[in-house]
Amino acid sequence: MANFFRDKLLIIDFGSQYTQLIARRVREIGVYSEIFPYDCDFKYITEFEPKGIILSGGPDTVLENNSARVDEKVFELDIPILGICYGMQTMSVQLGGQAQFSKKHEYGFATLNIDNTKSKLLGQITSDSNQKKLNVWMSHGIEVSVIPNEFEIIASSNNCAIAAIERSDKNFFGLQFHPEVTHTDRGKEILERFVDICGCNKEWTVKNIVKNITNNLKVNIGDKKVLLGLSGGVDSSVVAALLHKAVGDQLTCIFVDNGLLRLNEGDQVMNTFSKHMGVKVIRANAQKKFFSALSNVSDPEEKRKIIGRCFIEVFEDEATKLKDIEFLAQGTIYPDVIESAGSKTGKAKVIKSHHNVGGLPEDLNFKLVEPLRDLFKDEVRNIGLDLGIPNKMLFRHPFPGPGLGVRILGFVEEEYAEILRLADNIFMEELYKADLYNKVNQAFAVFLPVKSVGVTGDERRYDFVISLRAVETIDFMTARWARLPFEFLDVVSNRIINEINRVSRVVYDISGKPPATIEWE
Ligand code: XMP
Repeated sequence: MANFFRDKLLIIDFGSQYTQLIARRVREIGVYSEIFPYDCDFKYITEFEPKGIILSGGPDTVLENNSARVDEKVFELDIPILGICYGMQTMSVQLGGQAQFSKKHEYGFATLNIDNTKSKLLGQITSDSNQKKLNVWMSHGIEVSVIPNEFEIIASSNNCAIAAIERSDKNFFGLQFHPEVTHTDRGKEILERFVDICGCNKEWTVKNIVKNITNNLKVNIGDKKVLLGLSGGVDSSVVAALLHKAVGDQLTCIFVDNGLLRLNEGDQVMNTFSKHMGVKVIRANAQKKFFSALSNVSDPEEKRKIIGRCFIEVFEDEATKLKDIEFLAQGTIYPDVIESAGSKTGKAKVIKSHHNVGGLPEDLNFKLVEPLRDLFKDEVRNIGLDLGIPNKMLFRHPFPGPGLGVRILGFVEEEYAEILRLADNIFMEELYKADLYNKVNQAFAVFLPVKSVGVTGDERRYDFVISLRAVETIDFMTARWARLPFEFLDVVSNRIINEINRVSRVVYDISGKPPATIEWE
């Protein structure tokens, strides 16, 4: 990507939780951006040829001797630089200013007063709408106390006298608040103003991305054959569509049906890709193999390992039947690349090879193609839409690799999987019907292999229990149980108990993460 898009911004990462958000916002504005760790070798920065640099926030205390610093040569590149939060503090200190502990920490909303209405960065906001106050998102305990020479203060807040600075002849800017978070009024406009100051053309569009990726795939793959493990998830689906567009019949996909998928999922994947899009897909019906490998195993981690191992065996079996395959495609996306290198100290640019995956080993004798490795998830989805992948497939909740294997507690039986599939499907149908599916971030049913009493007519029956789980989360690291309406839960519960013979009771999981995890195993 870096070569195709000439106008690029570089985000230097000091470890803020918002760094990826900065990169995403810049791309939403239409300009390609990449994230490098603050300690990366300077030569990678010059090789990248950015039109401007953004220094991210970070957890370090700028007053400490060994706190993170950007290579000072960036200030001599003669390109615009924007420091955000910690980025502003280190820029100030590195250019001869000073910082101090704030008298009052600011976490959350603050009112920003734009003091210099002629500011190159913020002036347009005041001149467009005469708005001199903005609600902004702050998160700091340290502030700049003395600005470097030639800089001027352009904004302040009630607790922070120096909340934004600039040196307009050099196009150096510092913001103590976070323009990248949606809570900040007009934050995107501020970033867009910086992008414009950098002189970037807005070429980062879905059409251009697809054009660039497919061109690269054509050049790299030539007339050779390429293999892809298609799971039906967002990433592998988009990779399949891109490869199909680029090299057509040279692509073969292997879809492994492990018996632990959702209701009719295998048929849906085959329908979408094989029937409608004309992609060559081999469906490996390996249900029996998985269930027999899982028999007598109840430990969750053991189950995960077995499912992973069986997947590799089935995939390899199918792959060896195919002749002359040279490439293996994978759905690695940009956050995987950044995170695998470690955003704080890792050298993302140095460690190039990434071991993502649907669990394939590295010694498969293929050359790797990873067409999504520069893209964020929302970009992958937008490309998927452009390539005609159904909306429902692209915006589905995440589904774990081991599938229902970790949603059937303890021993995994085929019968349990069938019951769970039906219950899960009812839950999903009702979520869509009530327009709640997209209001929660992950929802599913869990099979509890305990017998609980119920009455049907005059008869007592002892049957299994289904738990419903729905969570709201941004990063899946923490989660809040979704407050689904009681009336809605009532409908789902009634349907599950009435329509599925072996279920006598439905419960709703009201545990947050932490301490509970999202999955039950
Ligand atoms: P937990 O349960 O750890 O889940 O709170 C966080 C997110 O990760 C998913 N998850 C998995 N995904 N293989 C996967 O591919 C797994 O073994 C696995 N375990 C959990 C889970 O669905 C949630 O989105």
